[in-house]
Amino acid sequence: MRNNITKTLLLIIILITLPHAYSETRPASIPTTSFYSAPPKTGITSNEPIKPIPNNSNVNADKVALGQRLFEDKNLSSDGSKACRSCHHLDKGGADGEQFSPSIDGGYRVRNTPSIYNVSLLALYGWYGLPGNLENIAETIIRSKKGLATEWSAVIKTLNKDQEYLKLFDVAYSDGIKPDNIKNAIAEYMRSLTTPNSRFDQYLRGNLQAISAAEKEGYRLFKQYGCTSCHQGVAVGGNMVAPFNLFKNYLNQDVTQQQLELGRINNTKDESDKYVFRVPSLRNVALTSPYFHDGSATRLETAVDIMGRYMLGRVIPTNDRKLIVRFLHTLTGNYQGQPL
Ligand code: HEC
Ligand code: HEC
Repeated sequence: MRNNITKTLLLIIILITLPHAYSETRPASIPTTSFYSAPPKTGITSNEPIKPIPNNSNVNADKVALGQRLFEDKNLSSDGSKACRSCHHLDKGGADGEQFSPSIDGGYRVRNTPSIYNVSLLALYGWYGLPGNLENIAETIIRSKKGLATEWSAVIKTLNKDQEYLKLFDVAYSDGIKPDNIKNAIAEYMRSLTTPNSRFDQYLRGNLQAISAAEKEGYRLFKQYGCTSCHQGVAVGGNMVAPFNLFKNYLNQDVTQQQLELGRINNTKDESDKYVFRVPSLRNVALTSPYFHDGSATRLETAVDIMGRYMLGRVIPTNDRKLIVRFLHTLTGNYQGQPL
């Protein structure tokens, strides 16, 4: 029921937003009451739908150091072949560039691997957009057959045999090696993986020269087409779900994928969650090809085209698409002071 209300609200917001996508030449003298009205060409308003990532992630350095070692350690997995990093590479935008990552059981993950950067900024997790926290997600993945496929008892045994871990746990926690501390350390490491200070964030903070005129125009179009009705906030997404068939059914096209692509309903069993997926964060999106839950779009421009046709019910002209892509490139941030 709540989901139905959410969806109705979403449609209303999009319908309110849509007319502005068509009014390219609104005379400047007519005041606009739209809350997605175009900003002045040269500047930013105090009410932008996207917020900058805080420059400090405020984490405990000892826990982060321990969490990083755990995140990178294949010895934690049941057969010693996989670490969290096997699929979430920091030098590949936090993902792995594959359509589907190979999993420990010799098969593949069934949905595309999302970026591990900025996960602390998300309100909903995974492609189904489920509530959760990073501690619980770490635990689920450690124990999942498609994750590290192991059990706490085995993990604790492995850690206790390693002098370096004994030291790191001693420094970071008062009560040593135990499941709560293991998942907290991994979560703390993930909380350290924010990518502040993108050129777009510098622009939002008032440095009007941080992005070019073409990129500003791309941002204006991103708002004008209504992309910000779903992709907004500090993560430019990650805080709501939407049906991936608002105007056209994307999902029925590939028959072999049909079962997998029923979306959130697979988890919630709620009919109104059919074809529903989380709106992904667009932070660092220029680095995380291929796109969508099924990794079906390789080029960012294709993803933008599909969004226009399936989510907004219109074909976005090539030139506008290119400008939106230019804007999306400005969302690439820095990790530990270095550009990704
Ligand atoms: C075999 C590849 C693989 C491994 C190993 C792996 N992940 Fe993932 N990870 C994925 C995939 C695929 C998803 C998306 C799952 C879904 O929603 O269908 C994901 C999702 C996530 C998310 C949610 C991100 C978001 O955008 O909501 C977090 C957090 C995460 N993984 C952390 C970890 C941690 C911590 C580990 C190690 C304990 C780990 N992953 C190991 C493939 C992997
Ligand atoms: C009605 C909500 C909605 C609107 C409006 C919308 N999107 Fe999306 N967007 C989504 C959802 C949901 C997904 C994930 C779909 C999937 O893979 O199942 C997505 C995925 C994407 C992706 C792929 C990201 C990734 O990591 O795979 C890009 C890029 C994107 N959107 C850009 C845009 C642009 C540009 C616009 C405006 C032209 C737009 N979106 C409008 C909901 C929306």
